[in-house]
Amino acid sequence: MSKVTVVGAGNVGATVAQYVAEKDVADVVLVDIIDGMPQGKSLDLYEAAPLHGHDRKIFGSNDYKDTKDSDIIVVTAGIARKPGMSRDDLLKTNASIVQAVAKETIKQSPNAIIITVTNPLDVMTYLAWTTTKLPAQKVIGMAGVLDSARFQTFIAMELNVSVEDVRAMVLGGHGDLMVPLPRFSTVNGIPITELLPADRVEALCKRTRDGGAEIVALLKSGSAFYAPGASAAEMVEAVIRDKNRLLPCCVYADGQYGLKDVYVGLPTILGREGVKKIVEIKLTADEHSALKKSADSIRENINVMNQLLVAV
Ligand code: NAI
Ligand code: 2OP
Repeated sequence: MSKVTVVGAGNVGATVAQYVAEKDVADVVLVDIIDGMPQGKSLDLYEAAPLHGHDRKIFGSNDYKDTKDSDIIVVTAGIARKPGMSRDDLLKTNASIVQAVAKETIKQSPNAIIITVTNPLDVMTYLAWTTTKLPAQKVIGMAGVLDSARFQTFIAMELNVSVEDVRAMVLGGHGDLMVPLPRFSTVNGIPITELLPADRVEALCKRTRDGGAEIVALLKSGSAFYAPGASAAEMVEAVIRDKNRLLPCCVYADGQYGLKDVYVGLPTILGREGVKKIVEIKLTADEHSALKKSADSIRENINVMNQLLVAV
């Protein structure tokens, strides 16, 4: 029986718990610092089990002891940037939270795989890796699955085709410099570059890059959680069911694509041991330079984070 701990029982965390249970993937422990909240959300989700016809246990807690022997830890704990708060303030706060969560969870589940969600995603994934000292293939960030799902949605909307036939690939960091790859985005195998004029392809790439901000602007408070929750749950399922999915994940680059010592979104084979392989595809010079630029910016932020943490 598999066990998945989700730390941070906010919007994304609760949605991950919901999808993991509803897809009958694993039992779920939902942890948060707020007293009663993870317990309340878990009980509410448990009470939906008869309606969804699964027997997964969903348990809420404020105590890491309840996370013992988890197969996967999903980290969604953190805060969103508030008005007046600088990026560095957010980076420092979320880094302290992710560091604490990584330390506590790995003590209880030394064999777990960690999937990070907290932003800034690529930097937080690097931090979870250095904090836990796990092998890099066991610490993976969720962003590319979400960004690719957004790209897929926009392609389906544009061409008025079923999302079932649309695949898309977005690499790089989870930010303005992410790298949607139209050449590797298809409608049932047909690259979208064959189906749409260049300006429409670029418009869809831009909407993808701005996908998170588009939802924030509409919600006015808080950020997206349904698609992010579903994306993290898809990664959890790939690991628990050892599916060998080829998904864009935030992984540790150790020379692949000419990138070193950085966590960044790359095509990954995901299964029971975590990252089984980083798949190297031939990129054009422009695609490669965009990926490098994105990775360089993540590396800069890792350096900023390290300085902020030293100063704490
Ligand atoms: P939220 O505010 O609804 O939930 C965050 C939860 O973390 C809160 O319930 C809070 O009490 C909890 N928390 C804070 N400190 C904690 C600690 N030390 N231990 C345990 N729990 C703690 O936020 P939401 O919408 O769920 O987003 C969570 C994070 O995920 C944010 O950093 C957000 O930016 C990020 N995110 C990342 C995405 C991605 O693609 N990687 C997509 C969507 C969100
Ligand atoms: C998103 O892309 C906020 O990272 C979050 O929706």
